[in-house]
Amino acid sequence: MNEVELQPVPNGISGRISVPGDKSISHRSVIFSSLAEGTSKISNFLTGEDCLRTIQAFREFGVEIEQEGTDVTVYGNGLSALKAPTNPINFGNSGTTARLMSGVLAALPLFSTAYGDPSLSKRPMDRVVVPLSAMGAEVYGREDARLLPLAFNGKKLMGTTIEMNVKSAQVKSALLLAGMLADGETTVIEKGTTRNHTEMLMSQYGVDLNQSGNKLTIPGNQQPKASDLRVPGDISSAAFFIVAAAITPNSELTIENVGLNPTRNGILTALEQMGASIEVTETEKIGHEPVGKVKISFSALKAVTIEGDLVPNLIDEIPILALAATQAEGTTVIKDAKELKVKETDRIEAVVNNLNGIGAQVEATEDGMIIYGPTPLSGGRLHSYGDHRIGMMGAIASLISEAPVTINDKDCINISYPNFFEHLEEVCK
Ligand code: S3P
Repeated sequence: MNEVELQPVPNGISGRISVPGDKSISHRSVIFSSLAEGTSKISNFLTGEDCLRTIQAFREFGVEIEQEGTDVTVYGNGLSALKAPTNPINFGNSGTTARLMSGVLAALPLFSTAYGDPSLSKRPMDRVVVPLSAMGAEVYGREDARLLPLAFNGKKLMGTTIEMNVKSAQVKSALLLAGMLADGETTVIEKGTTRNHTEMLMSQYGVDLNQSGNKLTIPGNQQPKASDLRVPGDISSAAFFIVAAAITPNSELTIENVGLNPTRNGILTALEQMGASIEVTETEKIGHEPVGKVKISFSALKAVTIEGDLVPNLIDEIPILALAATQAEGTTVIKDAKELKVKETDRIEAVVNNLNGIGAQVEATEDGMIIYGPTPLSGGRLHSYGDHRIGMMGAIASLISEAPVTINDKDCINISYPNFFEHLEEVCK
């Protein structure tokens, strides 16, 4: 059955785990390796369903990609070897595949079509299609190409200057990828800092890019060069266990292989502000990405306000942070987070309904939520809404609930954390 009942853990959680590869970096590693000339070996690749979609998408373009567990070898033959796919590409549930690949598909001189699952088919694509059209892209699709399915009459695009109107690394990355393939120079002006893995990997794959503040300029007609890469662990996956230890009495946990990129580590900043007992040690650099370990133990938490520039830095961690806030003393306010409404599900609604359903006091707002804490959690049934991060939030809530928690559609967790339940069992021993 695709549901699971999880028991409270009165004696706390403990031990040491190493989280799987970063989702954002795994996607990008396949994109650059597939466009590159030469063989790239990727290790610690995230085998979650989303990243496998990106692999499959490039196979449709004729790229030979071998995957054995977390080791992926991409036999790139350069841009000119890519062939138009004969079938529509299935982006599944993956927003990152859909947005980043759109930048590539619009800019390659090949015709292709793509679709997604019911959740992805509701998510806005105009945020990439509109700026790509300003570069000359020809993209057709449902509701004026606002929604998947889309058809790309790919062609050589022209570089231009684009001022972004949404804080989104996916949109920025789509435009940088399109700019890398276009004629002339493309300048992307960001509205605020978002995760910079695309920029970091461009340097690794021999692609020129200039950054000055929030302005990124990329010369066109560039052919990436193959590169080997080890993917750092995903801080967004680590976040579930970091919060688990912070809110479960008698807990002490060490999480290794955590990517600590400063554009991604807002969860650590927020928990520090909440008074969590947390120790972060950088142990190595993988390429340009800092990686380290996070030691976290239970402590009393206090409420916090999450807003402004911090939001894109922890956008995927808001569901689990909201759970932490139910245990904090005072009123936590999360604002400037309207983007949550267009994630795998409406995460404001999903978090508020689920947490209130197990005894928390959370109010939805236009651009976030207000959480009144601390409240005991009663347990009961949680609905993942098919959203991996909502499912994992529910699983962590079970640790401190008075009665067991049942999570429906637990398999959606495979999207980003295939061995989540093994790690949960391991730390609960
Ligand atoms: C991602 C960027 C974020 C994030 C998503 C992955 C990426 O989305 O929520 O999980 O890899 O670029 P937005 O760029 O839409 O904010």
